[in-house]
Amino acid sequence: APFLRILGIETSCDETAASVVVRHPDGRGEILSDVVLSQLEEHSAFGGVVPEIAARAHVEALDGLIQEALEQAKVSLPEIDAVAATSGPGLIGGLIVGLMTGKAIARVTNKPLFAINHLEGHALTARLTDGLPFPYLMLLVSGGHTQLILVRGVGEYERWGTTIDDALGEAFDKTAKLLGLPYPGGPAVERAALKGDPDRFKLPRPLVGEARLDFSFSGLKTAVRQAATEIAPLSDQDVADICASFQKAVSRTLQDRIGRGLARFRGEYADVDVQPALVVAGGVAANDEIRRTLQALCIEHGFRFIAPPMRLCTDNAAMIAWAGLERMAAELPSDPLDVQPRSRWP
Ligand code: KG4
Ligand code: ZN
Repeated sequence: APFLRILGIETSCDETAASVVVRHPDGRGEILSDVVLSQLEEHSAFGGVVPEIAARAHVEALDGLIQEALEQAKVSLPEIDAVAATSGPGLIGGLIVGLMTGKAIARVTNKPLFAINHLEGHALTARLTDGLPFPYLMLLVSGGHTQLILVRGVGEYERWGTTIDDALGEAFDKTAKLLGLPYPGGPAVERAALKGDPDRFKLPRPLVGEARLDFSFSGLKTAVRQAATEIAPLSDQDVADICASFQKAVSRTLQDRIGRGLARFRGEYADVDVQPALVVAGGVAANDEIRRTLQALCIEHGFRFIAPPMRLCTDNAAMIAWAGLERMAAELPSDPLDVQPRSRWP
């Protein structure tokens, strides 16, 4: 085919999303539509995502969103060349909704189905937005994941580091909750930190100095709780100071961990002519201080720093569609219609 159009579906967490992406003959991707419905309001009263509520909300929203994505892209269902749906990892209820819908569409249109790993979607986004060549390093920092991944090619990923306890976004959310700030915690902590003193509290910098590339954030959360308990009741200034100190500890931790990752990448490709690059993805990538830290680190190590637009950094279906297109272009096989969703899928 001269070009390929694919419908993407994402339902692994609390965003229902549908998108149509085209891959031009020169390999360039173009997003024809990208519709995302966040369930933030449904979950905010509970201070986190409630799986059962999420699954029901996906059921209600998905058909309409797919219709909208097709309309915006000005394509009809029979004109689609393939379907890509997230099949894991994530909340099983949502995965079932999205994957079953994808299967049904593939079945009636007689088009191939690609069951996509959500993390692969994040990992390949920078090729859609920036045409980035392989290999590169990707840091995924969201509410559910904290991973440093070597992206070698389509379907070729090496996990260099992961969190041994909380995800970084989760640490922001829990810290916010401890301090009485609203959910989601990341933006609230960042806002409060602007007026705070980052040096007032000496919080731990977990795993800093260790050779392995893993992360750990639960000790940080515990230290925040201790600091908050000791000086309670908290004034607004106390809250701001804790947030600023927390963010500084996180930044310094990332600086050490990712710095080691960049050095390892250099070593790995020492004899090869590659332009080293680091890509960030996930909601935490919205954090200004973290972005600046990573950017400075990249300049110091001679890496290109790529932060796709926030809309494509957080959960969306364009990245799932694109992962399907990449699989097609790499001539990887599509998936059988009895493929099963996987809540865990490393
Ligand atoms: O990728 P994402 O939108 O979705 C999932 O993880 O499903 O990431 C959400 C996470 C939340 O934990 C949220 O608190 C965090 O990203 N986050 C931030 C900021 N904005 C969102 N963390 C730190 N600073 C921010 N500005
Ligand atoms: Zn995600």
